[in-house]
Amino acid sequence: MVTTQVPEGSTERPVAERPALADDLRRKIESHSATIGVVGLGYVGLPMTLTLAERGFSVLGFDVDTSKIESLNAGRNYIQHLAGERLTSALASRKFRATADFGRLSEADALLICVPTPLTPQREPEMSYVVDTARQIGRTLRRGQLVILESTTYPGTTDELVRGILEESGLRCGVDFFLAFSPEREDPGNASYGTATIPKVVGGVDPVSGDLAQALYDRIVSRTVRVTTARTAEATKLVENIFRAVNIALVNELKMVFDRMGIDIWEVLDAASTKPFGFMRFNPGPGWGGHCIPLDPFYLVWKAREYGITPKFIELAGEVNVQMPHYVLEKLQLALNDRGKSVKGSRVLLLGLAYKKDIDDARESPAFEILELLLGRGAEVCYHDPHVATAPRTRARPDFPAMESRELTRELLERQDAVLLVTDHTAVDYELIARHAPLVVDTRGVYRQPLANVVKA
Ligand SMILES: NC(=O)c1ccc[n+]([C@@H]2O[C@H](COP(=O)([O-])OP(=O)(O)OC[C@H]3O[C@@H](n4cnc5c(N)ncnc54)[C@H](O)[C@@H]3O)[C@@H](O)[C@H]2O)c1
Repeated sequence: MVTTQVPEGSTERPVAERPALADDLRRKIESHSATIGVVGLGYVGLPMTLTLAERGFSVLGFDVDTSKIESLNAGRNYIQHLAGERLTSALASRKFRATADFGRLSEADALLICVPTPLTPQREPEMSYVVDTARQIGRTLRRGQLVILESTTYPGTTDELVRGILEESGLRCGVDFFLAFSPEREDPGNASYGTATIPKVVGGVDPVSGDLAQALYDRIVSRTVRVTTARTAEATKLVENIFRAVNIALVNELKMVFDRMGIDIWEVLDAASTKPFGFMRFNPGPGWGGHCIPLDPFYLVWKAREYGITPKFIELAGEVNVQMPHYVLEKLQLALNDRGKSVKGSRVLLLGLAYKKDIDDARESPAFEILELLLGRGAEVCYHDPHVATAPRTRARPDFPAMESRELTRELLERQDAVLLVTDHTAVDYELIARHAPLVVDTRGVYRQPLANVVKA
């Protein structure tokens, strides 16, 4: 047994001595001989899995979706922005296998949980994925295992919810097993930063757990940022996403204000961005999208209610951002009206289904909201997205009509009454669009110079 240091200011439960189990695990981590299990092989779990294998760890990937397991073991990567060779090399090195056999969770020395944390229809945390995973782990939990939650969530999830479930096994946290939180900051499609180069924030439920989690990430990522508790780490991730949500709403609101004044928001932002300090640029758009920004802030709203406080900025950001697809539609409607047309019966091509440029992720994309509004008003809608071949049925929209991306041709463009530019993917010929579409409604500031057939929205 070894005495541990509690970081200054720590509110962690005191653990006076470090069990020998922790030393064993630390040695395995330091020598890269630990087996790491990653539960949930999606946008977050898969890149982490491959990074772990590249760092020399043996990795077992777990997922309930057996089609993903089959794909991965056959070397078929299903995330477009991940280089396929990373998967084939991980398989070839025999460092990685995927499995749906959750009985094998006990083979891992450390388990990283990367499952979804969406919202319920009432916009409350949908914790069933985390709860199910914790129960699965609890069934086979053994002494000396380290469990790290990476899914974005409200402060207290790791310490209250996950620890409670794992301790139903009879094992004690910080003594028999170890538990920490480390938020994922993956930014799909970001060419400058990936799993290994994005600093990782880590907080343990107790100091020993925090130390072990830090020891693991120190071997995976370029920089580990240790915070005193798992709650602090959970709060850190929420702050990052709330910051984005609020600033996106702010710039969207400013866009609407300046539009009324006849001022071009894009020109304003270009000019404001020349200030070398005290200003950080956010761009307006057709709303907010993705699995994080429109959802995560509401985890804090929900938890804050328990403490008798409602964070107003988050609710306000939600109101503004949710309104944006309606604003875009109004701009389209006015532009059609100017050309003597109504939305009803008009042919509209949506450009981009993904929620942001150059990725294939369409979850929570504002394009769906716009599409539904257009269909509801009787428009004939098709779409083009070089990264999304088929409109996916999402958790939020399981009955969405089947649609496929249309090839972007001069003929297609000339047949439209309007092109609605929702996502500014790089691999799109914007000149072709400007030349042949009778009307373009641009929500992304692609067309900076005034053009007779382009309306900014
Ligand atoms: N996508 C991002 O860019 C991003 C960035 C930062 C943080 N996050 C957070 O990371 C977490 C995961 O997000 P994601 O985008 O990877 O989600 P995802 O939907 O792409 O992947 C989650 C995976 O978990 C699997 N799964 C669900 N329940 C399971 C269970 N009980 N056991 C095993 N596997 C299970 C699903 O089949 C899926 O493959 C979320 O909390 C999200 O908020 C996501």
